[in-house]
Amino acid sequence: MNIIEIIEKKKNRQELSANEIEYFIKKYTANEIADYQISALLMAIRINGMTDNETFYLTKSMIESGDVIDLSSIDGFKVDKHSTGGVGDKVTLVVTPIIAALGVPVAKFSGKGLGITGGTIDKLESVNGFRTELTSEEFINNVNQYKIAVAGQTANLVPADKKLYALRDVTGTVDSIPLIAASIMSKKIASGADGIVLDVKCGSGAFMKTFEEAKLLADTMSSIGEKLGRKVVAHISDMDNPLGLMVGNKMEVVEAMELLSGNMNNTHEDLYEECVIISSLMYEIATGKSKEESLSTVKEVIENGKALEKFKELITIQGGDVSDIHLKETKYSEEIKAVNSGTIERVNALLIGEVSVALGAGRLTKESTLDYDAGVALVGKNGMQVKQGDVIAKLYSNKEITEDIIKKAEQAFVIKL
Ligand code: URA
Repeated sequence: MNIIEIIEKKKNRQELSANEIEYFIKKYTANEIADYQISALLMAIRINGMTDNETFYLTKSMIESGDVIDLSSIDGFKVDKHSTGGVGDKVTLVVTPIIAALGVPVAKFSGKGLGITGGTIDKLESVNGFRTELTSEEFINNVNQYKIAVAGQTANLVPADKKLYALRDVTGTVDSIPLIAASIMSKKIASGADGIVLDVKCGSGAFMKTFEEAKLLADTMSSIGEKLGRKVVAHISDMDNPLGLMVGNKMEVVEAMELLSGNMNNTHEDLYEECVIISSLMYEIATGKSKEESLSTVKEVIENGKALEKFKELITIQGGDVSDIHLKETKYSEEIKAVNSGTIERVNALLIGEVSVALGAGRLTKESTLDYDAGVALVGKNGMQVKQGDVIAKLYSNKEITEDIIKKAEQAFVIKL
């Protein structure tokens, strides 16, 4: 067996065997196959797809490329969630304390932002002192004692994905359903949870642009998880418009805390609804309770303030300063005004995501440093009536906000008469 034969086979739409998949994953992780050969193979996969069996063996080989976290010393059913990535998606910050406050252990490994999609780790690191690097002992102790830990992925968790993802990012091969499914599920399975709720985003601000693609990705990931003995539930949600009002690291932590405080004036119904759905699905798979009971239980734990208490406890036990969770004045700010009167039909998530990256809230390269206080605060949301000249968004940054950025923010709002 050699890599050229494997590339040829995939190019000619023949199914790769488990052995062939294991071979190229092992050799590539060990730096024994060149990037240019794997690039060719990835493009053949992107164009010709993979069968369910191939996707399953790819995921399995990727899991086996590194450490698998053993959470067996944590009592109870450990539940995790994963979002395929979006703009203003701070759902993890809200749902993990809800679930932990209900006594279900949450062992959450999260990632940094990539492109226009934000990452939970960056958001939490925006809080003064918060540590996302925990030793495995600390992680397990926190989950046992407080029912919650949120940490960055360890260096040796699915090393094959680190190499493959970096290559896909620069070879136009990110948007492939089997490659995304294997990338996400290998990390979720290796992270050790018993049950996983997948929040599959669909729309302009997501990898999956149509409902059909999102459904296929959701089904592919669920089937992989179930074959590997995990309980998996997938939920497809809108990412044509940003979620909630805030897009930017610290700003999103502030919004999450406002929601948990029951302060709906500083957040939006769409975020509340999404958080209630995701947390009730997590509760349902962990406890076996009915959908109705799960929904009312999670709403109750928000209303009685217990989820907020747990959120503050999470921040504190991981070294963060709760008093630092407030909006900070940035050196520059700009108001975006409605160019005409009418109804906001859409707030383009892709454009708002690009604006927030340009303001400094996201990375242009892996090495970029983030401006934690930068971002976009939406005032106008889809469905809202506005008059010409009304403020529909505010931009914040510690670097100068150029005309291009302002124009793009204006263009994000589609206002129909
Ligand atoms: N998120 C991942 O972890 N991997 C992908 O391929 C896409 C989104």
